[in-house]
Amino acid sequence: MGIMADDIARVRAATDIVAIIGEHTEIKRSGRQWMARCPLHGERTPSLSVSPDKGVYYCFGCQRSGDVITFVQEIEGLDFGGAVEMLAGRAGIHLHYTSRDESAARSRRRRLLEAVARARDFYHQRLLDGRDAGPARNYLRSRGYDSDLVRRWKIGWAPAHGEILAHHVGLSDDDLRDSGLGRINDRGSQYDFFRGRILFPINDERGDTVGFGGRVMPGVDGPKYMNTSTEAKTYNKSRVLYGLHEHRKEIVKAGRAVVCEGYTDVIGCAEAGIELAVATCGTALTAEHVRLLKRFSASRLVLAFDADAAGAAAASRLAAGARQLYAWEQEFEMEIWVAKLPSGQDPGELARTEPDALRAAVENPERFLQFRVDRVLADGDLSTYESRAKSAERAVDVVSEHPNPLVRDPQIVNIAERCQFDIDLLRVYANSIRSRAEDRTVHTGEDTRDEDIRLTPEDEALQLAIHRPGEAAGRLHATLFGDPVRREAFQALQDEGEVVAASDRVSPQAAQTLHRLAVDDGTAAVDDVLARIAGIAARRAMNELRRQAASSHDPAMRQHCSVSLAWLKSQTERLEERPTRTQALADLLPWLIEHGRRSEGSVSGSLVASQADPG
Ligand code: CTP
Ligand code: MN
Repeated sequence: MGIMADDIARVRAATDIVAIIGEHTEIKRSGRQWMARCPLHGERTPSLSVSPDKGVYYCFGCQRSGDVITFVQEIEGLDFGGAVEMLAGRAGIHLHYTSRDESAARSRRRRLLEAVARARDFYHQRLLDGRDAGPARNYLRSRGYDSDLVRRWKIGWAPAHGEILAHHVGLSDDDLRDSGLGRINDRGSQYDFFRGRILFPINDERGDTVGFGGRVMPGVDGPKYMNTSTEAKTYNKSRVLYGLHEHRKEIVKAGRAVVCEGYTDVIGCAEAGIELAVATCGTALTAEHVRLLKRFSASRLVLAFDADAAGAAAASRLAAGARQLYAWEQEFEMEIWVAKLPSGQDPGELARTEPDALRAAVENPERFLQFRVDRVLADGDLSTYESRAKSAERAVDVVSEHPNPLVRDPQIVNIAERCQFDIDLLRVYANSIRSRAEDRTVHTGEDTRDEDIRLTPEDEALQLAIHRPGEAAGRLHATLFGDPVRREAFQALQDEGEVVAASDRVSPQAAQTLHRLAVDDGTAAVDDVLARIAGIAARRAMNELRRQAASSHDPAMRQHCSVSLAWLKSQTERLEERPTRTQALADLLPWLIEHGRRSEGSVSGSLVASQADPG
């Protein structure tokens, strides 16, 4: 990632994982672990387990796991480097980067962001007291934006005169352009990107201001909004959500977010006490936005578009229409609802005129499909057979986009009743539509979330190695693990000596396995655990020997195999009985380890030159 490993280790050491997680959810001690309701997926009963000793967490509900850095990545929506930087900032640790390029790129981004922040403060101040900002102040006041509100959202005014900011921030041509704040004209001089507009600063989810939405004054020509250009290096409109940083804690807590269309909608919602609102910035909702919201634990999205826009969802408000939305519901395991706003009104206006109606609409949303069916039927004419047929057809078309037949059928019944058609007739029609609409996104069966969390014998052995390394010392070996993931995890643990360092260098599956086992000490007796894994390893070895004997023409080899087999068989029997178990382990484990080593070391796995004497 570019940050020096030593620095990363210092950040981890200086950070208390329980305290960090405790900032997002109530966390309680339970034995040596801590338990909490998982803030990453929102739940009623605690399934997040945290081990401060090992420095890791594992959620039995959503199976997310990791160390404190992973947690910060997940909850703050950051990448690895961003999370380390954030934690380093809190711990007062100065970071060093491995490559000069990386250092340079990071400090450039920092420099651009600082310029944007300075511009934001400049514009904001200008709105508060600039002489040329009088009309903007009046306009905002007429919309109910008092000075508290203006300060809270750091709303600004970009002077109409075109090069004031460029002079104020004093940037190189490159930095001016790449920050999105200005451009260079034909004569080579710098000029401002935003001129004569009210500016809404757009923060990314970390709270860095990355761009602006600029609204024109009423009565002035030009596009109503101009947003920071996509050329700006700090700004990526398909992944930024206005209001997310401000409302992230409420969103995580509530497990839901209200998705609006505009800056003024977010502000209006907040004024009406709905502190869950976010808006895309001059673009349709994309999968990246949805993923970002899911990262903040929003498993319910309430779309608060004005009714006409929501009805026409496919057109512009959602990147790819209703099907896409149902696909997101599946992919991100979330529910998408629609707040029913009066036609022609957006949340921003409603917040001012009828805040109660806005709150009611957001609190009592309808599922997206229901909303659309209702709209189609409400818009239709039900007075003649022909027009009823038309309405029913339109409504069935809408229903046919939904991937789940159990959701579709009741809607078909509903449509049949409302348009007064025979239910079976409409079902036949619906099926013909459905088979025409070549839909390959039908998902059958729910994904099996509450998977079996009992431990396998190899899990138990790994758990032993994590929590009681002294007791397992010398008796466990990577070759005893038949499952490659657990073997990899075990080997890394042996090499590194502790979970976090080990999970840094293994596959994601192996890391998750380590985390899952690290948050639970395990209670099984050492010999029981060893007996189980030895029994399985012995059976594996016996299968191998049988294969070897069957495929060999060398009598000495076959003889050797059958002696070994007999010995293994008797040892596994002795493993089953408590009185003989300890001795059987003492005999069997070294043999199995040696056997594993040899068959790994040589491809032929020569057993003739066999190891510890089996007998
Ligand atoms: N938008 C845009 N360019 C435009 C018009 C709109 O980028 N020419 C985007 C802006 O992000 C805007 C959102 O679409 O916030 C919603 O547009 P609209 O509903 O027209 O504006 P409002 O946010 O409602 O602004 P206002 O309350 O001032 O009318
Ligand atoms: Mn609007």
